[in-house]
Amino acid sequence: MSRLGEMLGAYQKRDPAARSKLEIFLLYPGVNATIHYRIAHWFYRHNFKFIARAISQWARFLTGIEIHPGATIGRRFVIDHGMGIVIGETAEIGDDCLIYHGVTLGGTGKEKGKRHPTLGNNVLVGNGARILGPFKVGDNSRIASGSVVLSEIPPNSTAVGVPARVVKINGQAVENYTECVDQINTGDPVEDEIELLTARIAELEEELCACRRRHPDHIHAPEETALTEEKEK
Ligand SMILES: CC(C)(COP(=O)(O)OP(=O)(O)OC[C@H]1O[C@@H](n2cnc3c(N)ncnc32)[C@H](O)[C@@H]1OP(=O)(O)O)[C@@H](O)C(=O)NCCC(=O)NCCS
Repeated sequence: MSRLGEMLGAYQKRDPAARSKLEIFLLYPGVNATIHYRIAHWFYRHNFKFIARAISQWARFLTGIEIHPGATIGRRFVIDHGMGIVIGETAEIGDDCLIYHGVTLGGTGKEKGKRHPTLGNNVLVGNGARILGPFKVGDNSRIASGSVVLSEIPPNSTAVGVPARVVKINGQAVENYTECVDQINTGDPVEDEIELLTARIAELEEELCACRRRHPDHIHAPEETALTEEKEK
C-alpha cells in the first residue's frame, strides 16, 4: 500500500495537471498499467507465464500500454499519458523513472537473451523515443522526445536525435561526444587473450630450446628426431 501511495505521490510531483491521489488512482492509465504489471510480474516470477501474459494483454487493451510481465520496474515509476508504450521482456527500469507516451524499450531483433535496455534511476524518456538494445541509460539521464537511442548513454546526460547523440553531460554542452569517446579502437578481449597465449607459447619454446641445448641426449625436437631416423636409415 505504501508503494502505491508513493507512486501516486510521484505522479503528483511529476505531472502539474495531476490533482488528488484518488483521481490519479482512478483515472490515470499509467497507474492502471503499472498495477496490472505488478500482478502479472508476480505470476511471471512464479512460473504462471500464461496468466501473466493474459493480464499484461488485458492491461494493454485497457490502456494502450504494453509492459511485458518479465520486465523489471523500480519504485515510483511514472508513465505520463500512456498509449503506444512498449516495454520488452528483459527491460529493466530503475527507481523514479518517467516515460511519456509512444516510448519503446525494445530490442533490435539481433540479440538473444538480454535484448532490451536498462534504465538507471531517475531517467526521463520523452514522448516517441525508442531505446533499442541491451545497453544502459545511466542514472539521471534524459532522452529527448523523438530520439532513437542505439548505444549506451552515460549518467547525467541528455541524448537527442536519430540516432541519438549525447549533447549534454552534467549540464554542460558536449560538442563531439563521439570524438571524446573512442568507440572504434576499443580492446577486443579475445584478441588480448590470444596475444597473451602467443607470448606464453614463445616463452615456452625458448625454455624448451634451452633445455635441449643443456640436455641434448634427453630431449629431442620431433623434427630433429625424424631427421636423425632418416639419416640412420
Ligand atoms: C530533452 C529534454 C528532456 C530537455 O533536456 P535538457 O537537458 O534540459 O536539454 P536542453 O533543453 O538544454 O536541450 C539540449 C539541446 O537538445 C536540443 N533538444 C532538446 N530536445 C530535443 C528534441 N526532442 N529533439 C531534438 N533536439 C532537442 C535542444 O534544442 C538543445 O540544442 P542546442 O544546445 O543546440 O540549443 C526535453 O527537450 C524533452 O525532450 N522532454 C521530453 C518532454 C516530453 O516528452 N513531453 C511530452 C509532454 S506531452
